[in-house]
Amino acid sequence: MKLFDVYPLYDVEIVKGVGCNTYDADGQEYLDLYGGHAVISIGHSHPHYLKALADQASRLVFYSNSVQNSLQHRLAEKLGKVSGYDDYQLFLINSGAEANENALKLASFATGKRRVIAFGKAFHGRTSAAVEATDNPKIVAPINDNGHVTFVPLGDIEAVKAEIAKGDVAAVIIEGIQGVGGIRIPDDAFLRELRSVTEEAGVVLILDEIQSGYGRSGRFFAHQWAGIRPDIITVAKGIANGFPMGAVLISPKFTPVYGQLGTTFGGNHLACAAAIAVLDVIEEERLVENADEVGAYLLEQLKGIPGIKEVRGRGLMIGIEMEEPVKELRSRLIFDKHVFTGASGTNTIRLLPPLCLTRAQADEFLARFRAAIEGR
Ligand SMILES: Cc1ncc(COP(=O)(O)O)c(C=O)c1O
Repeated sequence: MKLFDVYPLYDVEIVKGVGCNTYDADGQEYLDLYGGHAVISIGHSHPHYLKALADQASRLVFYSNSVQNSLQHRLAEKLGKVSGYDDYQLFLINSGAEANENALKLASFATGKRRVIAFGKAFHGRTSAAVEATDNPKIVAPINDNGHVTFVPLGDIEAVKAEIAKGDVAAVIIEGIQGVGGIRIPDDAFLRELRSVTEEAGVVLILDEIQSGYGRSGRFFAHQWAGIRPDIITVAKGIANGFPMGAVLISPKFTPVYGQLGTTFGGNHLACAAAIAVLDVIEEERLVENADEVGAYLLEQLKGIPGIKEVRGRGLMIGIEMEEPVKELRSRLIFDKHVFTGASGTNTIRLLPPLCLTRAQADEFLARFRAAIEGR
């Protein structure tokens, strides 16, 4: 059997990772400014994380959601404390798309409505309602194209108000910082207005923090820069440092109903052990603060490099928009300079490193990046 060939791949295989470095089979080291697409939050092979996984695996990998699982309660309590959302409720699943799917479903159940407002360039996942709320017709199949979602420009509060005034809107869904869309930060004032407009109209505000959350922006959640509290927050990616997991944080306004949401694998024992270990390390090593400090330093340094059109970002979520397409530059970075980066569109490089990136590693990246741009 062959693989279903949907990924354009770089011809390199990573077989090992330590901290912010990865290694191929020949032992070549690569500086990881990509974090496997914002997934590696606390760094590769963190000893506390590996021990937590190994200990849990030696006891129990999985049992079903029909019996008690105290690890889920421990995770909920810890996440509430670290994120500042102790009063919220936690629903656990396996991926980002699934988190948004459940958030949208909950909003629709709660309001009895079916229309959603999303924003231009949004990415919320590849399944049913999540992909419908994603502003990319190429990945929306006819079966997903059900007319539930209206896209308005990011930052256009009047357009949001006009749609909400029609009276049929269940939810507004917005990324804390747009990732796939090219590292676009919604204005803090816009987010505050969005919060008050949705609150007044009884429309559910869903903050997709799947890429921008868990410390990446230099706050636990990117929306915390604006000082707002959404009704629902979705997370995935860095939450378990590579173990597949997603979660929905749900305001106390919502009353759970037995059987309304559910999943086989969500919140399994191994995933919870991984997620608890991630929060231990985030706290212990002050990784949110590190993302803030090292990210601010990187942003500042990048601004002085010739060939860059614009640098956008917060914390360790950075977009570098170049004057030219970045395809060849990214190849040079991997194969000549041994640095992994991400991309958005044709001209933007995306930096999503592990949150433990040091200033020395940031300097090393800057040196290799400059050299790659200059063709040295
Ligand atoms: C903002 C955002 N939402 C949702 C998703 C979907 O997450 P997953 O690929 O885990 O389904 C992603 C993935 O890139 C994302 O960046």
